[in-house]
Amino acid sequence: MPIAFEKVNFKYAPNTPFAYEALKNIDLAFEMGKVTAIIGPTGSGKSTLVQHLNALLLPSEGTVLVLDRTITNKHKPKELKSLRQRVGLVFQFPEYQLFEETILKDIMFGPLNFKVPEAQAKVLAMNALKLVGLDESFAEKSPLDISGGQKRRVAIAGILAIDPDVLVLDEPTAGLDPQGSKAMMELFLRLNKENGKTILIVTHDMEHVINYCDNVVVMKDGEVINHQRVTDYFERKTQVEDIQMNLPQLLLFKEALLDGGFEFKQPMRYLEDLAEAISKEIKR
Ligand SMILES: Nc1ncnc2c1ncn2[C@@H]1O[C@H](COP(=O)(O)OP(=O)(O)OP(=O)(O)O)[C@@H](O)[C@H]1O
Ligand SMILES: [Mg+2]
Repeated sequence: MPIAFEKVNFKYAPNTPFAYEALKNIDLAFEMGKVTAIIGPTGSGKSTLVQHLNALLLPSEGTVLVLDRTITNKHKPKELKSLRQRVGLVFQFPEYQLFEETILKDIMFGPLNFKVPEAQAKVLAMNALKLVGLDESFAEKSPLDISGGQKRRVAIAGILAIDPDVLVLDEPTAGLDPQGSKAMMELFLRLNKENGKTILIVTHDMEHVINYCDNVVVMKDGEVINHQRVTDYFERKTQVEDIQMNLPQLLLFKEALLDGGFEFKQPMRYLEDLAEAISKEIKR
């Protein structure tokens, strides 16, 4: 079952002087069962795009296919509740998602909303809390009284507790410290590899793209300008620079070694690949 955009346009504030076309003619099919990064400069339409996937925004024109559902501007969100059980979206700004008195209630909200009995919802919520790296003492705290990074973790836990088939994460590691950020990406990768979740992740972090993602979708000015395997994408560094992004450290280091006279022919992705290539070169 697909997740695809067909000729989608989206306008904010249509028919007003502030009308703004944030998505233009999007034709895009995500690969199921994979981790896909969505990258692009600020304001390029990434958040607007992903909010179509659980029908928070409806396309102004065109069709969005999400699993067995077809979303057009004629679909009312009410008939889309079951979709939100299967496609979980974590917002770029976690505050938008947190509104209960306690963190536990917040995380239980999704399962309860989908008719999971209270006791079971509590178990799911406590498990999710643990998965995102927060201990039990957080359960009874107010989601207002915690740090930005902790809010983000709670927002992610709220979606994990629903156990959707597709996880859509809008900058899920923004505001996390480096180790927390790594642990979170490893969690997503595990959910993909072990539980077969399809993961779509909006990010500005090219290290995350090269280390954890299979495919990359590149947006610019409301359009999708590229959709490739991650390994192919990084083969041409101008593609990366054209969207004001930096190459991952590993590839910068590889470039410096090439400039210094090393000869590498094989593509490289992980630190181990580079270490092996260097060792071969030194022996040669
Ligand atoms: N509620 C809104 N009303 C009007 N215009 C909006 C609204 N939300 C976003 N836009 C505009 O739509 C464009 C795309 O915004 P969007 O938030 O999708 O970008 P983004 O790629 O997620 O950016 P960032 O990397 O900063 O999160 C921007 O030019 C933005 O100003
Ligand atoms: Mg955004």
